[in-house]
Amino acid sequence: MITSPSTLSWKEKYKIDVARIDLEHKLFLRLINSFKMAMNKGRSDDTLRRIIDEIEKYASFHFASEENLMVAINYPEYEEHSWRHKELLETLMQKKQSISGFENFHQFLVEWFIEHTTVEDIRIKHFVDDYNIDVKEFCYDIQEDTL
Ligand SMILES: [Fe+2]
Repeated sequence: MITSPSTLSWKEKYKIDVARIDLEHKLFLRLINSFKMAMNKGRSDDTLRRIIDEIEKYASFHFASEENLMVAINYPEYEEHSWRHKELLETLMQKKQSISGFENFHQFLVEWFIEHTTVEDIRIKHFVDDYNIDVKEFCYDIQEDTL
């Protein structure tokens, strides 16, 4: 049996320095971890599928949020980036329907999260830095450091 890595911890390299997006990414990561923890505890397939539904819905919300940010700052790679989001949502739906093992699914989520955050999302940070765009307004008024 292939064992996937245990829960994923937050790393500096995932940060894009837009408070709202960093917070949503932290929650995304927590959600992926909750799926892994439910697997480790031997939760039923039905419970695991429910968490997958939650991940899918959260991903959809988060992508809309990130896309709204991109539009607001006139991000030039909006089209390509949104296409990647659409692609993930489609893959999530397909994988959910023809699931070949929860371990594989978890591994897919972990790899996707790391890859997308450090390759695609980081480009938003570079754009914001290069053009000195003020992104302070893109935050939630909650205690982010408690997460
Ligand atoms: Fe993204």
